[in-house]
Amino acid sequence: MGLKITDEEGKTNLSPQEKECLKIKTISTYGELDEHEQLNIEKAVEWTIHTKFSRDRILTEVFLKTLHKRMFSDVWTWAGKFRHTEKYNGVPWVKIPIELRYLLDNTKHWISHQVYPPDEIAIRFKHQLVKIHCFPNGNGRHSRLMADIIRDSIFKRDVFSWSGSKSLKAGSIRSNYIRALHKADQGQIEPLIDFANS
Ligand SMILES: Nc1ncnc2c1ncn2[C@@H]1O[C@H](COP(=O)(O)OP(=O)(O)OP(=O)(O)O)[C@@H](O)[C@H]1O
Ligand SMILES: [Mg+2]
Repeated sequence: MGLKITDEEGKTNLSPQEKECLKIKTISTYGELDEHEQLNIEKAVEWTIHTKFSRDRILTEVFLKTLHKRMFSDVWTWAGKFRHTEKYNGVPWVKIPIELRYLLDNTKHWISHQVYPPDEIAIRFKHQLVKIHCFPNGNGRHSRLMADIIRDSIFKRDVFSWSGSKSLKAGSIRSNYIRALHKADQGQIEPLIDFANS
C-alpha cells in the first residue's frame, strides 16, 4: 500500500525523491497523509492568528518559506524549501527566486498606490504565487493562507471564506475553484475573488 498522489484535478505530483522525504514513516495512504498535513496546518494557522505581522515582513521570501515550513514541517523534510524539480504547472525551478521577487515588488506597489481594491490584491497575489509554484507540494494551501494573512494583517479584514472549505479536497467546490483559476489565467480575476468570498 503506497502513497497515491496524482495530478488529477490540479494536484501536484511528487517525484519519487520527494516522496522519500516523508518524516512520518507509518503513513501509507493518501488519507493518512492528508490528516497529518491538516494537523500541522492547524498549528500554523494558530500561529498566524496569534501573531501580528507587518506588511514588510509578510511580503518577503523569508516569510513565505517560514509559513510553508510551519504548515508542513511535521510531515515533510522539504517543508519551507523551494523545489529543485520541474512541475507541469510551475515556472522552471531555477527561476523561482526571480519570479517571486517580481511578484513581491509588484504587490507592494499595488498596495502603496491602491492599484486594485484590497480583495483583488490578495487574490491576484494568491493566483500568481501558485503559478510560480515555489514548493514541491502544498502550494495551493500555502497560497490561500497567504491571501488570508494579507487580508487580515494588511487590510484588517476577516479572512476569506473559500466557499466554506479551506481544504478544497474534491467535488463540486474544487471544480468551481479550478474553473475560477482558469478564468484568472485568462485575465479575469473576479470569479476567483467571488469564489474566495462565497
Ligand atoms: N490545472 C490547473 N489549473 C489551475 N490551477 C492549478 C491547476 N493545477 C494546479 N493548480 C494550482 O496548484 C494548486 C495545487 O498545488 P499543490 O498540490 O502544490 O498544493 P496543495 O496545497 O497540495 O493543493 P490544494 O490544497 O489546492 O489541493 C491548486 O490549488 C491550484 O492553485
Ligand atoms: Mg498537492
